[in-house]
Amino acid sequence: MNYTQKMLRDDALRGKNIVVTGGGSGLGKAMTKYFLELGAQVGITSRNIEKLQNTVKELEGETGGKCFAIQCDVRHYDQVEAMRDEAVSKMGSVDVLLNNAAGNFISPTERLSANAFDTIIDIVLKGSKNCTLAFGKHWIDQEEKDKTILNIVTTYAWTGSAYVVPSATAKAGVLAMTRSLAVEWAKYGIRSNAIAPGPFPTKGAWDRLLPGDLKEKFDLAKKVPLKRVGEHQELANLAAYLVSDFSAYVNGEVITIDGGEWLKGAGQFNILEQIPEELWDQLEQMIKSKGKK
Ligand code: HXC
Ligand code: NAP
Repeated sequence: MNYTQKMLRDDALRGKNIVVTGGGSGLGKAMTKYFLELGAQVGITSRNIEKLQNTVKELEGETGGKCFAIQCDVRHYDQVEAMRDEAVSKMGSVDVLLNNAAGNFISPTERLSANAFDTIIDIVLKGSKNCTLAFGKHWIDQEEKDKTILNIVTTYAWTGSAYVVPSATAKAGVLAMTRSLAVEWAKYGIRSNAIAPGPFPTKGAWDRLLPGDLKEKFDLAKKVPLKRVGEHQELANLAAYLVSDFSAYVNGEVITIDGGEWLKGAGQFNILEQIPEELWDQLEQMIKSKGKK
């Protein structure tokens, strides 16, 4: 099975102009690369302009597409409005906002300062809200239609998770915003959807969530029923579909792409996976014989 194949036909995103927050690294960069390959123009934005410019150079060289670097800290609404205006002036218009920028680290919650908690909420929830509001207001004011907002959340947006509480709190808010606006802004021709990825190794996430030898101690692939982590192209395929016209009737959805990881933690008897095949015969006999007494 070749799950790293590129899914959509060439030119599937030709004519689309896309803004990817946090597009200079990790999953944002992987999605940007595929969007460029499919013919879209992409504006990538984050705090570090040098990193963005290097990514633009690399991806334009690899894909022959048109990519723009725009500096912006999504925590500040004035910067987000300026980023939107620059994206519109460079690309002519914007069709898709991909809220991908995030901050995260592991910590027992009682060890966090109020500012540490705020920092994550500000990047993830307030940042996604700032971008959504700035682009949404613009599209509605200009009466532009056929727009898409795609938010990157996580599966712990609905399960919650210990030791990443600010991130879980913020991602839950982003998910609520996705579903709420899917209904409210549909009348303006704006769709809202989300992707909840399971483990997709990136430097940004792994250095902060599995520092030091935690990478070896906690092999995340073992938590996944499919026994592997995700490939960036798999996520890029899903994102490309969700920002393309092929998904025009998908609205308010969160699509999980995690190899079954979160459900494995949720099902009460999933732990029985540890029982070897031979033991099942004995167990069946024991249960059946009890039923006969
Ligand atoms: C406790 C910490 C901390 C830590 C920072 N702080 N790191 N507290 N444990 N490990 C505290 C600081 O002491 C400070 O509080 C406050 O947080 C802000 O820290 P700064 O370093 O000043 O913030 P800033 O420079 O804005 O950097 C933000 C950041 C950083 C989030 C802390 O890590 C960052 O830039 N991250 C961006 C990329 C990222 O995180 N990517 C991973 C996404 S992965 P005080 O009180 O001292 O001022 C992801 C995956 C989820 O979301 C699912 C995976 C399976
Ligand atoms: P990453 O490479 O660290 O990406 C995070 C990006 O956000 C960086 O490019 C960073 O760029 C940008 N960013 C951080 N703070 C910002 C701010 N204040 N303003 C603007 N941009 C900011 O990590 P990743 O793994 O690719 O994560 C991408 C997304 O996937 C995130 O939403 C994450 O929660 C989600 N996710 C990842 C995984 C996984 O396994 N990797 C799993 C579930 C969900 P700068 O530092 O230049 O600002």
